[in-house]
Amino acid sequence: MKVGIVGCGAIGSFVARWLSKANGFELVSIFDIDREKALKLSKELKINAAKYIDDFLKNDMDVVVEAASQQAVFDYAEKVLISGKDLIVLSVGAFADEEFYDKIRDLAIKLRRRIYIPSGALAGIDAIRAVADYVEEVILVTRKNPSSFGVSEKGVIFEGNAKEAARLYPRNLNVASTLGIAVGFDKVKVVAIAEEVEENIHEIVAKGRFGEIRIIVKNRKMDDNPKTSYLAALSVIKTLENIKGSIVVG
Ligand SMILES: NC(=O)c1ccc[n+]([C@@H]2O[C@H](COP(=O)([O-])OP(=O)(O)OC[C@H]3O[C@@H](n4cnc5c(N)ncnc54)[C@H](O)[C@@H]3O)[C@@H](O)[C@H]2O)c1
Repeated sequence: MKVGIVGCGAIGSFVARWLSKANGFELVSIFDIDREKALKLSKELKINAAKYIDDFLKNDMDVVVEAASQQAVFDYAEKVLISGKDLIVLSVGAFADEEFYDKIRDLAIKLRRRIYIPSGALAGIDAIRAVADYVEEVILVTRKNPSSFGVSEKGVIFEGNAKEAARLYPRNLNVASTLGIAVGFDKVKVVAIAEEVEENIHEIVAKGRFGEIRIIVKNRKMDDNPKTSYLAALSVIKTLENIKGSIVVG
């Protein structure tokens, strides 16, 4: 399977290194607006680094991994689909913009392309998705260091709905958007707490006619980017394996 990566930061580099050794996968090209980052990874892995997104998309690739930013999703999602590739989206907060989400979903349907949203820094999204029609409320409580949220004080820094969370904290609360897409944005309540924590912690409680789901994930931070959890990078690899595999678990 031929793969391209947009974003050569913590997640993109991790996935690129994995792809360069994985059986049955070929990393075709990488792209980053920070040319130095792209060139550094290109040199390390001896892989083509495109200078412009349009050149990147001229490559023959089955799927593009977006590991860049919400802006990258806004700017490139349509182009990726039109160029005939599927898309894995990490900066899921972009899809909290309903109009944009509808536009990209409709285009994917029209072009028969697929958009994959990995479980990212969350666990149990498969179960939450399964009970989506039976859920009355999902509460997400996220704890990260004050510096990761860009604040100096400890305490509750946000309490509200998933759309606002994804808009106000595009680098930290993509998970709110993943939950919103899974069950409907109106059902998801988000609390973000700045605390001195060793790990990035997400707690999810979902209640409804099906019963109750409680999930706690204590995520090791990535060395290159403490806002980002190691699990998020691993979840991209799982998504790639699922796309390629004959048996899909979860
Ligand atoms: N869904 C989840 O659960 C989840 C979890 C962790 C991170 N994320 C998101 O995944 C994305 C990548 O995370 P990361 O830790 O690797 O970030 P990072 O900051 O380490 O790397 C991002 C890279 O993308 C590049 N980039 C940014 N905007 C770009 C654009 N418009 N075009 C091309 N390149 C661009 C940057 O130059 C940088 O090199 C972030 O948006 C992050 O918020 C999502």
